[in-house]
Amino acid sequence: MIANWKMNKSIFEALDFVDNFTHDPIAEDVNVFCLPASVYLYPLIQRCKESNLTIGAQNFHWPEYGAYTGEVNIDMLTSIGIKHVLIGHSERRAYFGETDEVVNLKVKASLAANVIPIICVGESLQSRENGVTWEVITSQVTAALEGITAKDAFKVMFAYEPIWAIGTGKAASSYDAQKISLFLRELLEKILSTEKALQTPILYGGSVTEHNVGSFLEQPDVDGALIGGASLDPNSFANIIQIAGRVDND
Ligand code: PGA
Repeated sequence: MIANWKMNKSIFEALDFVDNFTHDPIAEDVNVFCLPASVYLYPLIQRCKESNLTIGAQNFHWPEYGAYTGEVNIDMLTSIGIKHVLIGHSERRAYFGETDEVVNLKVKASLAANVIPIICVGESLQSRENGVTWEVITSQVTAALEGITAKDAFKVMFAYEPIWAIGTGKAASSYDAQKISLFLRELLEKILSTEKALQTPILYGGSVTEHNVGSFLEQPDVDGALIGGASLDPNSFANIIQIAGRVDND
């Protein structure tokens, strides 16, 4: 379960939030991640040292070092203990010009630094209405993995996030989430030419709440959820984790 806080919370709210999870036991076999704003990464990593809560990053810039005012690179993230990073979120694609090519550069940079990329893909409402969802997913995934070899197959995670479902309260149906996750899994197997791709974690994201998370996690090819709005409230995120702990989709 991944909490994507986006550009939300003060440092005090962020610390309070993680304290809720460091004091309460987290459901045992659920991997729980929290992706705060980059300025909070270091203090939250320090605060979560003894807990099962993993702190990951929402973004980074792919070059090594240099004149990129305002940016943070992957070595800076690893130097503070980051092991997971979100790449290609539709908000970054829409507002910050993150193209498929940039996504691929970031995937390569993160793998080279032993950081697990959580790659987001998903179609717009228009693409869905035009019936080209499969083509969109295929081209995003193919571009993201260009030049990535089978040995890295199980070092990547994917999140299927239909753009029309993000922050709208209109989640995809669990049927659609399953259908596309399965398609994605088979596509990965083909692109990476290895059965190991069948083990790649595939998450669903887009208006996930404590009320619908169970229906997604029950799907055989949905391994987790990427949660925006509903992850901001510690109680609702805790409920989501509890539900995830009860679902058995093996
Ligand atoms: P949402 O956001 O849960 O608020 O729809 C999901 C995401 O953007 O990752």
